[in-house]
Amino acid sequence: AAMSGATLARERKELRQQEAEAAEQEAKVDLSSQWHDPMANPDSRQFASDLRNSKANAGKSEGVPEWRRAVAPKDQSFGKRTNMSMKEQRESLPVFAFRDQLIKAVHENQILIVVGETGSGKTTQLTQYLDEAGFSNDGMIGCTQPRRVAAMSVAKRVAEEVGCELGQEVGYTIRFEDKTSPSTRIKYMTDGMLEREILIDPDVRRYSVIMLDEAHERTISTDVLFALLKKTLKRRPDLKIIVTSATLDADKFSEYFNQCPIFTIPGRTFPVEILYSREPESDYLDAALVTIMQIHLTEPSGDILLFLTGQEEIDTSCEILYERMKALGPNVPELIICPIYSSLPTEVQSRVFDPAPPGARKVVIATNIAETSITIDGIYYVVDPGFVKQNTYDPKLGMDSLIVVPISQAQANQRAGRAGRTGPGKCFRLYTEAAYNSELLPTTPPEIQRQNLAHVILMLKAMGINDLLHFDFMDPPPTNTMLEALETLYALSALDDEGLLTRLGRKMADFPMEPAMAKVLIYSVDIGCSDEIMTIVAMMNMPTIFYRPKEKQTQADQKKAKFHDPHGDHLTFLNVYNGWKQSGYSSPWCFENFIQFRSMKRAKDVRDQLLKIFQRYRHPIISCGRDTQKVRQALCSGFFRNAARKDPQEGYKTLVEGTPVYLHPSSALFGKQAEWVIYSTLVLTVKEYMHCTTSIEPKWLVEAAPTFFKVAPTDKLSKRKKAERIQPLYNKFATEDDWRLSAQRRGGRG
Ligand code: CDP
Ligand code: MG
Repeated sequence: AAMSGATLARERKELRQQEAEAAEQEAKVDLSSQWHDPMANPDSRQFASDLRNSKANAGKSEGVPEWRRAVAPKDQSFGKRTNMSMKEQRESLPVFAFRDQLIKAVHENQILIVVGETGSGKTTQLTQYLDEAGFSNDGMIGCTQPRRVAAMSVAKRVAEEVGCELGQEVGYTIRFEDKTSPSTRIKYMTDGMLEREILIDPDVRRYSVIMLDEAHERTISTDVLFALLKKTLKRRPDLKIIVTSATLDADKFSEYFNQCPIFTIPGRTFPVEILYSREPESDYLDAALVTIMQIHLTEPSGDILLFLTGQEEIDTSCEILYERMKALGPNVPELIICPIYSSLPTEVQSRVFDPAPPGARKVVIATNIAETSITIDGIYYVVDPGFVKQNTYDPKLGMDSLIVVPISQAQANQRAGRAGRTGPGKCFRLYTEAAYNSELLPTTPPEIQRQNLAHVILMLKAMGINDLLHFDFMDPPPTNTMLEALETLYALSALDDEGLLTRLGRKMADFPMEPAMAKVLIYSVDIGCSDEIMTIVAMMNMPTIFYRPKEKQTQADQKKAKFHDPHGDHLTFLNVYNGWKQSGYSSPWCFENFIQFRSMKRAKDVRDQLLKIFQRYRHPIISCGRDTQKVRQALCSGFFRNAARKDPQEGYKTLVEGTPVYLHPSSALFGKQAEWVIYSTLVLTVKEYMHCTTSIEPKWLVEAAPTFFKVAPTDKLSKRKKAERIQPLYNKFATEDDWRLSAQRRGGRG
């Protein structure tokens, strides 16, 4: 199974004890036909009892289970990568027949929209065609991707096809990682990275062609690039822009880009049979895993693709499936379990593309990255629980939160289509047909309409674009969202009363991260703890640091408690990193302490990149030594908006909106009596939990954000009481149309 070595090692160790338990659990799983399938395979019902029998027989070697007959391998030639040369593979793609026409179209047009089914070869082939046609003699061929995994995996694939070392002629750049060299001719990158490059060179002189790939995803960065590059084109008549899109949207894109031509690559797809759940599923994760086992044991050969919402879910599912397969014993055909999500190491990611050996079946468990950004051959079955994790701005909390939401109908259809690339396929939707028709939106609204824009606006301001209300967005964000972003930047002192960029704001724009984080980094230099803050910021970039297996929670918690700092989680991160550093960045040390080595290694990479940015802009790196109060003060300079005060009843209340929030049980502050705290994010599960929390003194908030907080005028109160009477000034005028007016009004009041 393509899982990380550490996870696997742990699993093997614990497997023997778990086996018995897993077997028992498995026996309880009811695999009786849950599908509304008119062609229901009678073997699937047969199978359920076989599975139970095989449990009962576990350990005994006699008796080949019944289901074996149902999976007699069918001779299908999927996994073409095994038996075709690279050249043959390239030439078998739908786009190949249009190679010369495409090159001609690019020669003749400054902007071109290219539409084609996912997997037709747009991303991997177009860049090579243009390279072969000589475009890269005048500058690089750049290709943007909304996701970093896609940028990396596609670059790797194209390097293989070109026959070069990754990072040489073909390379990629993602945040905190640059795998390119002076000889790079084809460069894949995240759209966010190109946005940053335009900040430095608005004419993007290094490029001859820029392909805005996966434009239908409509990430904020792609939308911003649309507008910026449209301007660049006027100054650079030699620059070529290609915008690709899977389906829909093409006319809208063409209209936006001055009625440019649309080139359509006809697709080659097979029918996909759609099966819905008969009843709504109460636990989609469990339903998904049962479905996978059912497919594996009853359906003809062909790989499976399951869509889940995030890393944690994916890792858990891989482990459960692994256990369930193990419990079935050696007589079951092998199931190769491949997780794929963005924070997975590249080596593990690329294994997802390896075809399953004969007789085995592969199950790919992916986030929505596998919807359009990457194409995996040989998928015949898609399991779609119907959810996606979406970054959504919550104006009430004034922050982004990652929430799991239902997908759109367009997404559901795109997912289903993944089963029909190699032959006729099946898609198992873990929701009812009625839900599909009445509960799913037809399409997903563009990110720019639903996310916090502070970061984007800071970048645009740094590019000298001040008139945001008239900026040429394809779909302008709501005015309120823009005003709120301006407010945020003003409170961070990145903008002045006039709404113009301050010197601090300009410095903040140099950091490829959200403005609050950038502010903390810069302020840490002034206050003298940039060394520590750099580490903490790098650690905060990791989704998970601690490892907490179900069976060893107590032990893991005890280990973690050793790192706890009395002032909270950020300093706990610092302790962990320093401990790891002292161990010589050792992997056994991580294993010993229930810490994810992978995350630590990546944190170190991020820290190294931050170090480079600090050096480039000559920000001194200063350590505060034992005086870690400075670290907490620095955190306040960016995260003051996420301040909360202990509620006499229970939990905490945010200062800004008075929303009830809670300390997470895993926090170093849990059970301590911290009166005032700040946190980095809110995570909504059963309750609104603060994640990564640190205790503070309220006066730091006023010092950090004098335009945001004021001390209530209370002449008679003691000094201590005064310090506690802190009120946010925020959000009283968010409906105004004119930012400048707002700023002045606030100026008068504050
Ligand atoms: O961009 P589009 O969806 O049109 O297709 P593509 O990403 O260029 O993929 C074309 C083919 O390249 C796929 O069918 C895969 O066979 C192969 N590919 C791969 O093997 N590994 C990757 N990382 C990406 C693509
Ligand atoms: Mg593509």
